[in-house]
Order: sequence, then structure tokens, then C-alpha cells
Amino acid sequence: MENKELINDINININEYIRNIKENIYYKKAIVITHGCQMNEHDSEKIEWLLEKMGYDLVKDIKDADLVIVNTCSVRHSAEDKVYGQLGNLKNLKSKKKNIKVAVCGCMMQREESRNYVIEKFPNVDIIFGTNNIWKLPELLSMSYNGKKLAIDIEENPVNFDDTLGANRLYSFKSYVNIMYGCNNFCSYCIVPYTRGRETSRRPVEIIREIENLTKKGTKEVTLLGQNVNSYGKTFEDEFSFADLLEQINDIDGVERIRFMTSHPKDISDELIYSFNNLDKLCNFLHLPVQAGSSRVLKMMNRKYTKEDYLKKIDKIKSINPDIALSTDIMVGFPGESEEDFLDTLDLAKKVEYDTAFTFIYSVRENTPAAKRDDQVPDKVKHERFERLLDVLYPIQEKKNRKFIGKNVDVLVEDFSKKDR
Ligand code: 5AD
Ligand code: SF4
Repeated sequence: MENKELINDINININEYIRNIKENIYYKKAIVITHGCQMNEHDSEKIEWLLEKMGYDLVKDIKDADLVIVNTCSVRHSAEDKVYGQLGNLKNLKSKKKNIKVAVCGCMMQREESRNYVIEKFPNVDIIFGTNNIWKLPELLSMSYNGKKLAIDIEENPVNFDDTLGANRLYSFKSYVNIMYGCNNFCSYCIVPYTRGRETSRRPVEIIREIENLTKKGTKEVTLLGQNVNSYGKTFEDEFSFADLLEQINDIDGVERIRFMTSHPKDISDELIYSFNNLDKLCNFLHLPVQAGSSRVLKMMNRKYTKEDYLKKIDKIKSINPDIALSTDIMVGFPGESEEDFLDTLDLAKKVEYDTAFTFIYSVRENTPAAKRDDQVPDKVKHERFERLLDVLYPIQEKKNRKFIGKNVDVLVEDFSKKDR
């Protein structure tokens, strides 16, 4: 279906069901609990926008809610366990407060195994939807209020509904903007291609229009979101790259800072590297997930670059832009990772000198190629390597932070830290 037709259909559908809920349902206090990445945070902003349209008040405490929506993440086992724990607690709450509705959405619901587990173990769940059909929430809620025991709908592949739904932005001055959906990379440890479907890019004109509208409401900083922004535009018939998109966004009045997440090292182009110098609004910061420092492990991970390729790219980036801040994702304990492989990771971390890093212990994800390997690293070894990795990363970060002592820089004050709220 053409995007225009689709948008029209979605609009008709949501307006009808929004009206239905608005006029017929009286208990309307809702909470959205979000797990996982920025993509999920932004999806929750869209869900909250729909809820407000239906007349719901958003509350901060689950105990006050008539509707609880859990937006799930499946990237690691621990994220899934957290959700199961939460659904267990909601079971107890529901036995005391019968009218409460529980909805589960997000990546876990895109996976058949987790979805079936939730359906079987948590009969207290009333509504299930996925990442690709958030706009169905009003219809599913209507079905549920009309007595349907489990209102469920899942769409396998990404649908661009960003032009139909708004988002209840958490901050007025900084906003997430989706530029693409899905991932085609199939890194052997990762569940995302199975949950978020195949990669598609949003048309530049739609993205620009969204950002222009955001600036009218006070947005100064935009963070462009995609699993692999460096392959932006590859699904278009005409040639249009991520660097081209950045250039157009840089020209929008009112935008002061541009950020993006996430880049795949194999696809990072020279054109993009030069954008950091050429575009005055592009923040001087690059998140470039390396995952591991051993070329042997990188091959097993299906990352399609070697340690040397990665270091060469970093050298180029630093030579063009010596002040750039670098961050990464690093994983320890991938199946078959030897002590020597791990030492390669430590060596790479020392050479790059990351300003910050997100560190992970490999977690088995069912049905991914890495999960089927019989050379899993024992938990004790994984944890020990994780600690050793932090011992290398932290002093480098401290050294990097110390360079700012005595310097005046522009900052965007975002919020109180969580512990001071
Ligand atoms: N185990 C541990 N970490 C993982 N990541 C993705 N899949 C797994 C997994 N199975 C990490 C990667 C990715 C980040 C978002 O999560 O480092 O870049
Ligand atoms: Fe997962 Fe690799 Fe895609 Fe990132 S690029 S989402 S790690 S498959």
C-alpha cells in the first residue's frame, strides 16, 4: 500500500476508536513503563500522545493507574526477566483492583516465543501489540473494553506511521526523530533484526517537516534515531545519503544541535566523517559500537570489519577532527572468546581512548546463530572479564573528563539527575 493511502487508513482508524474511548470510558488514568533503548523511549512518547488524545491522564504511580502499558525490550535476557517480574506484580495488583487493564508492547511482543510465554503465564494481560502497530492501541483498547479477553495484534515489518501519530515529548527543547526503522545486519548475537524487521528509511521531506514543526514548539536539539543510520537512504531509488540528510537538517532555522544514534562501523562514510567539520550544528560526538577488539570474534559476530579496519576509521576521524568525543558499545564473553581475544578488546579500548562506553556481558538470545554455539563462555569468566574491561575504561574516561577542567563550553541543561529528582 502507498504510504499516503496507509496514512489515510490509519487516520480514519485511530480517529474512530479515539472518539469511542473518549466518549465511553470514564476511568482514565494511565502509566507507560518503558524498558530499553531510545527507540523504545520515543515509541512510548507516541503511545502517551495517543493516550492523551483518548482523554487519559498520565500518572506517575502504578497504584493510581486504570491502564498500565509495559513497553518491553528483548536485547538481553535480564531485560526480559525484569518485564516478567513486573507482570507478576501486576497480577497481584489486578487481583485487588479488578478494573485495571494491562497492555504489553515493544520488542518482546514481536518475538513469538516471548509473546506466547506472556500469553500463557500472565492471563492478567488484556492487550498485546508490537513496535510496528502502535497506532492500533485505541482499537485494541475498545475491543478490550467491549469484553474481548485478549485483544492482540502484531505486524511483522516496519510501517512508517510517524506522520500520523504525534509524540508526547518528554522534553520541549530536545526531541527524538525516527529516520529509519528495522535492521538488516544480523549480527550473530542480536535479536533486533528478528523483532524490528527489515530496514526501511523515512523520506527526507517527512523528516524535515517533522523537525520544522518541532522547532516551532521550542525544540533546539534533535536526535536522529535508527539502528544503523549510516545506511540511511539505501532503500531509496534515488541517491540520498545520511550525510545529505544531515546537511538539510543543518539548514533548518531553530535547530541548534544535531545528534544521531547508532552508526555501524562498516558503513561509516568519509562524507559523514567530514560532516562533523562542515556542519556547525552537528554535535562533535560519535557513538561507534565496536562490540569486540578481536578480528576473529568480530568475524564470528558477523560484524564485517576487523580490528584494523575499525582502528583505521578511528584514526581518520581523529585526524580530521581531533576534539571529537567518542563512545561505543563493547560486549564481553561472546561464545568462543578466548583470553587472547579479550586482550585484543582491552588493547583496542586503550588505543581508541573512548570518552564513554556502554558495556555488556554477552547474553544468549534464543534462535540467534550465536545462541546455537557450543563454546559458550562460563559466567564466572564473563563477569571477571567485564570487571577487567571497566578497570581499563574508567581511568581513560577520567583522564578525558579532566581535560575540561578550567574550560568554558556551551552546555544544554537537560534535567536533574535521577537521584536528585
Ligand atoms: N548480549 C549482550 N549485549 C547485546 N547487545 C546486543 N545484543 C546483545 C546480546 N545478545 C548490545 C550490543 C548493542 C547494544 C545495543 O546492546 O552491544 O550494540
Ligand atoms: Fe543488532 Fe547488529 Fe542491527 Fe545493531 S547492527 S541492531 S547489533 S543486528
